[in-house]
Amino acid sequence: MEIVKLLEKGFIEIATVMRDANSISLGNITEHNNNSGDDVKTMDLISNAILMDILMKCEQVRTIGSEEEDTLCETGFKNAPYLVCYDPLDGSSNIDANITTGTIFCIYKYNDDGTITNGHNIVASGYSIYGAATQYLVAHNDTLRFYQYSNKRQQFDLLHDNIRIKSKGGIYSINESSKKTWLDTRYEKFVDKCIDEKYSCRWVGCMAADGHRTVIKGGVFAYPANKKDTSGKIRLLYEGYPFAHIFHIGGGFSSNGSISILDIPFPKNIHQKIPIILGGMYEKELFDSIC
Ligand code: F6P
Ligand code: MN
Repeated sequence: MEIVKLLEKGFIEIATVMRDANSISLGNITEHNNNSGDDVKTMDLISNAILMDILMKCEQVRTIGSEEEDTLCETGFKNAPYLVCYDPLDGSSNIDANITTGTIFCIYKYNDDGTITNGHNIVASGYSIYGAATQYLVAHNDTLRFYQYSNKRQQFDLLHDNIRIKSKGGIYSINESSKKTWLDTRYEKFVDKCIDEKYSCRWVGCMAADGHRTVIKGGVFAYPANKKDTSGKIRLLYEGYPFAHIFHIGGGFSSNGSISILDIPFPKNIHQKIPIILGGMYEKELFDSIC
C-alpha cells in the first residue's frame, strides 16, 4: 500500500534522529500539553512533524489524526479515500532512558457518506519499533507482515510474511501497580489466574513494545480503567483500534471488557480513551471464565 511505503520513510527518519541525538534532551518535557493530558517530549513533536509532513502530500489521504494534534487535519485532497491516524512516538516516557519506543498507525477507509462506522473500516494497521533494531509490522489483507531495517542495504527487509499469534502464551503485561484502583474487579482475578498458571509479568510502558512482544511470544496485554483514568489510558483511534485489528488478523482477540474493540462505534472525540485487553484465544477463555 502506498501509504505504508510512505510511513516506512517516516520510521527511518524517526529512528535516525533517535540514533544520532542526545536521548536525554529528546526526552525533555516541552511546554506543550496534548489533548490526553500526557507530557509532550521534544521527540514526540519531532516525530509528529516528520509523519505529518509526509502524509500531508499524499493524494490518497483525506485527513490525518495524531496524538499531538487537537483535531483532525485536512490534507486538501477532499475526495481521497483514507483517514490515517497515528501515535507518532508511543512510550515516549522511555526516550531519556534509551528504552524502546514505537509509532502506532491505522488507515481507515471512509464510507461513501463521508463517515467511519467503527474499527471494521480499517484497511491496514501496524506499528514500528525503535529498539535494538528498527522494525515494523503491518496488518493488511488478512496477513501480519513483519520487516526489519538494514543499515547496510538502506531498506526494510521482510522477516516474516504471516505471523500468527499463539493461542496460549506465558506472559501477562499489565501495569499492576494500579491494581488497587482498577474499576473492573475481573482484572485482579485475571492476574491471579495468570500467576496460578505460572505466567510471568513484563511491562515496558510502551504499548508498541508490550503489544509487539505479545504478538511475537503470545500472552496478554491489558490496560484497565482505573480511578484516575476512568476510561483507561489507551486512545481508541491510534492505539486501541489498530492493535485490535492486528490481534484479530493474527488469530487473537481484543475486548474493552464486553465487546470487541473493533465493534466500538467510531467516537466524536478523536482522543477517546478505552479500557483494553488483547491476547490469544486461551487468554480470552481465561478472561471470559471470570464472573
Ligand atoms: O500511550 C499510552 C501509553 O504510553 C502506552 O504506550 C503504555 O502502554 C501506557 O501508556 C503506559 O502507561 P503507564 O504510565 O501507566 O505505565
Ligand atoms: Mn501512546
